[in-house]
Amino acid sequence: MKERERFSSRLGFILISAGCAIGLGNVWRFPYIAGQYGGAAFVLIYLLFLAILGLPIMVMEFSVGRASQKSAALSFHVLEPKGTKWHLYRYGAMAGNYLLMMFYTTVGGWMLSYVVRMLKGEFQGLTPDQVNGVFSQMLGAPVPLTFWMAVVVIIGFSVCSLGLQKGVERITKVMMTCLLLLMLLLCVRSLTLEGAGEGLRFYLVPNFHNLMYDAGGNFILGKAVYAAMGQAFFTLSLGIGAMSIFGSYIGKERSLTGEALHIGLLDTFVAFMAGLIIFPACFAFGVNPGEGPSLVFVTLPNIFNQMAGGRLWGALFFLFLSFAALSTIIAVFENILAFAIDLWGWSRKKAIAVNFVVIFLLSLPCVLGFNLWSSFTPLGMDIQTWEDFIVSNNLLPLGSLVYLLFCVSKKGWGWKRFLQEADQGKGLKFPHWSRIYVTFVLPVVMLLIFIMGYYQTFFQKD
Ligand code: PHE
Repeated sequence: MKERERFSSRLGFILISAGCAIGLGNVWRFPYIAGQYGGAAFVLIYLLFLAILGLPIMVMEFSVGRASQKSAALSFHVLEPKGTKWHLYRYGAMAGNYLLMMFYTTVGGWMLSYVVRMLKGEFQGLTPDQVNGVFSQMLGAPVPLTFWMAVVVIIGFSVCSLGLQKGVERITKVMMTCLLLLMLLLCVRSLTLEGAGEGLRFYLVPNFHNLMYDAGGNFILGKAVYAAMGQAFFTLSLGIGAMSIFGSYIGKERSLTGEALHIGLLDTFVAFMAGLIIFPACFAFGVNPGEGPSLVFVTLPNIFNQMAGGRLWGALFFLFLSFAALSTIIAVFENILAFAIDLWGWSRKKAIAVNFVVIFLLSLPCVLGFNLWSSFTPLGMDIQTWEDFIVSNNLLPLGSLVYLLFCVSKKGWGWKRFLQEADQGKGLKFPHWSRIYVTFVLPVVMLLIFIMGYYQTFFQKD
């Protein structure tokens, strides 16, 4: 058999895993969800979940990937005790990857379209209200929206067709570095805007009332905590084997807890900075931080309008955000391709050709949900909200639970084997004392949050 392709360096692995983790979840989803649930107090809970839920599960995913040397399509097959059914989760993982892309490509398309709009100077001289109008207008036009989504899908698969090292690794490295640098610059600009202080307070000084009650005085704590858990899994790409596969591309020189910590920190840093850019600007320009998915798109152009050379900076910034989205998309496409290759023995070429068509078609409902199908809103949620809800609040937490139980249960891979794999190599070891916590406390906490969230989302009357 052909030897499995590897990353060329440790840095490559860290950057590409961070590239998968850092994406729209950090710069688009995090700010708007934090805004919806009242700012700092939500951020605190979210950070807590990253540490107590996210990190251990990331180590588990990497371990499963590295020990099995397979994608989620086959990793459970290789590791599970004979006669058990863990491998059935591959369908959950597959569904998760596809569903995620069904709305992710659309938002990636918004980013690209903003690059061009910025370059053309479309936002120049507009008031914040008018900026808002440009965004709504964009959503209302199905053809250009489909075009940008298609561009994203095409770029994603083109990079994948170059192969792991040449394509994915090399391109991601450059993109990530540029993004980080430009974000630093923008933080400075946003923090020095007039009126930035109030935004900072909203973002950094916890107000637990906002976490417990919405503007209408309804009790929403369960929903808020549920959203924080979903966002923690979303931003770290956990639960659907997306990270697991990178574990299968690395050697055993490094322990996995240390690697997960690096990636988690990088990811959190970017999300945190995105908040530092968005919230001061929101308050400075009178944009409602609870605005929803449009938040970054209606806030950022206002900042650039106030900057010398804002048109160029704006175009560059949206370009790098598109890169962040693309590095995630490419990583998830890699996973989707690996499913077909591992499961059915398809060639890479065939897997790319078929999935290109499939992903394009699957992405259409999200695009159309903003215009032609906008009246289709079962239980008051539009198509994008549904897709996001199914992935972020269901597949990711439940899938993470599957990885967790697999790693701690005697009927699964088991604690000992998990620890042995995770701890192999130089670096931080997985804390052995955490066994009781990971085995008994974590699953219960996750299930409780899940049930509470469901209850408040669907059954509680406003
Ligand atoms: N972590 C990615 C982001 O923040 C999204 C993602 C979720 C990717 C789950 C893969 C799996 O944009």
